[in-house]
Amino acid sequence: MSLPTQAPGQTYRFDQSFEWNFVNGPQFTAPFPPVPQTPMKTFLGLPVRSRLGVPASILSTSRWLETYARLGFDVLTFKTVRSIARLCGSPPNWLYLDEADLARHLADPDAPLHAVDQPTPGCGLTLAGSFGMPSAPPSFWQPDLERACRSIGDGQVVIGSIVGTAGEGVSDQAFIADFDRLTRQVCEAGVHAVEANLSCPNVGRAEGELYQDSERSGQIAQAVRAASGGRPVLLKTGPFASPQAMRGFLQRVNGHADAVVMINAPARRIVRADGSPAFPPGRERAGVIGARILPIALDAVRTARQLIAADHLALQVIGAGGLTTPADARAFLDAGACAAQSATGAMFNPYLAIQTKHADPSI
Ligand SMILES: Cc1cc2nc3c(=O)[nH]c(=O)nc-3n(C[C@H](O)[C@H](O)[C@H](O)COP(=O)(O)O)c2cc1C
Repeated sequence: MSLPTQAPGQTYRFDQSFEWNFVNGPQFTAPFPPVPQTPMKTFLGLPVRSRLGVPASILSTSRWLETYARLGFDVLTFKTVRSIARLCGSPPNWLYLDEADLARHLADPDAPLHAVDQPTPGCGLTLAGSFGMPSAPPSFWQPDLERACRSIGDGQVVIGSIVGTAGEGVSDQAFIADFDRLTRQVCEAGVHAVEANLSCPNVGRAEGELYQDSERSGQIAQAVRAASGGRPVLLKTGPFASPQAMRGFLQRVNGHADAVVMINAPARRIVRADGSPAFPPGRERAGVIGARILPIALDAVRTARQLIAADHLALQVIGAGGLTTPADARAFLDAGACAAQSATGAMFNPYLAIQTKHADPSI
């Protein structure tokens, strides 16, 4: 398959590697337009200019984070970091998906989705992404995260996203201790809140599907809470298989976390025209990101809000997944989210926050 086509204005270069984008990105050379001065709101008790941001995804360095802060995104999550260096999975890392497949089969977690070379004209942009949660070593990311925290303006917050590294010989205790250490490191760097990533569609089961193990998620939340120095604690999940599964998770983490971030990219089997896997071996399933996952993400937020209300839980919900227009940001807040974040949308349209603030200053 050829490389995915670059859209005009896109900040991440598809014709370059993840590492190239990490070192040289973002691609944004236009003058920074003025950002509308919207009224202050609160986000988990912190003052913010808007409840719109970027989730753990493309903001992999202080340069990326500062660029998006200057473009008016206010709830900024630095890309997930580890306590060890981890390379990105080999290319391809992005593939466009067939719109007809998405329309018919996206809701079915077992149905294969076909990768295509070009996005379908007139459709929102939806891709499969497969990176494997790469990370620089702490000796690089910690000072860089510190720079990122210093780069933001009034009414903006930086969230530090962390993940423990599982593997052979890593005991349960050591895995949880990894979250504890990482929490302290991101807090030392100056983040306003800490997010434990319990979901990544294309890493090993132990790290990628943590949120499906309520007990383990609760233990991780407790460890992060204890090390977070009173900062808000967030937990990132993928889509749950059922409202009952979500309920078990929310009940277990209640009291140990302040908010859940929903959703990480739904994992699907991505194939070529001949049915063979489109990504390299071991990465047959990849995360679906962008416009088409919006209904799944909105449904997750609504369900979570209903369960939280029914069970009188002290949790907020942050919406992510498929947000590509100002109306989508409003839809997340109307669904009960306390903030909304865009990764794919913000990558294709760096002016999304400015447009949203013009359209709806109350965001
Ligand atoms: C390039 C890229 C990298 C990502 N890396 C992370 C990550 O490190 N940690 C995480 O929790 N989610 C990660 N995500 C998932 C996003 O936070 C988000 O949940 C997902 O992309 C759905 O939102 P979207 O439709 O706005 O892209 C990544 C997404 C993208 C596109």
